[in-house]
Amino acid sequence: MRIKKENSVEVIAKISAVKAAIEKQKSSGKSIGFVPTMGFLHEGHLSLVRESLRRTGYTVVSIFVNPTQFGPKEDLQEYPRNLEKDMAFLEELGVDLVFIPDTLEMYPEGFKTYVEVTDLQDNFEGRSRPGHFRGVCTVVLKFFEIINPDVAYFGQKDAQQSVIIKKMVGDLNLDVEIQVLPTVREKDGLALSSRNVYLTKDQRKAASILVNCLRKAKNMVEAGEKDPYVITKEMTRMIGRQTLADLDYIAIVDVGNFEPLDKIKKEALIAVAVYFGKVRLIDNMIVQSKE
Ligand code: PAF
Repeated sequence: MRIKKENSVEVIAKISAVKAAIEKQKSSGKSIGFVPTMGFLHEGHLSLVRESLRRTGYTVVSIFVNPTQFGPKEDLQEYPRNLEKDMAFLEELGVDLVFIPDTLEMYPEGFKTYVEVTDLQDNFEGRSRPGHFRGVCTVVLKFFEIINPDVAYFGQKDAQQSVIIKKMVGDLNLDVEIQVLPTVREKDGLALSSRNVYLTKDQRKAASILVNCLRKAKNMVEAGEKDPYVITKEMTRMIGRQTLADLDYIAIVDVGNFEPLDKIKKEALIAVAVYFGKVRLIDNMIVQSKE
């Protein structure tokens, strides 16, 4: 069922109609780019959409606040939404199709099948948000099945998510290229996130501690520091000095597989998660040792 057609952006709510629309494009030889989102779009999402528009012949964006990736104590109901603004952004960019299913369309009564990338889903984000990656993988696999994209775009801000999705794609022999694009930041370096709107003025100011401690870590690695313990200690000290910030975790891991490192050799990914009251923010940087 097509619910709207405006300025040539097709807006579809039903899976069967999305499949038909995409089939038509594929048979005319167009490559399909896909940007999955939970809406409340910001420049981070838009950078993915622009890249898809540049590289592929037909760009699909999904807007779906996926209930299965929220834990029982998480902010599903309060998750920010602004469909009108999202549509204005997407129309202006010239997206071809926006898929906006409702919960029952994606998870009909009696839904029982979930996808898990074992082990990788249990550390760091997975430990703080049990069940989160199972929900992400399940919905992303469903989207891949429905949309059948040639390329799908994700943001580096959710680094563990990208690693897990790449692993799922490899393990299940899915025929989709995963592109991970750089984090988009505010002037003070804070990574763009839909959750930033929850921050009070003081918390917003304090939130630059995430990027600041990552920059410090990057400088330490570039100056020759190879011991994750020393870097973690310094980052913990910096975050501890910020009274509004509560450290959740610091991860110093292999860029490709998110395994914790004993020693930094050439390259590492440093990730951090910090609470400001109830708001939990994440960020990360890939660092290169110069020696
Ligand atoms: O990164 C997100 O916004 C979500 O986890 C995703 C990939 C859209 C799945 O719901």
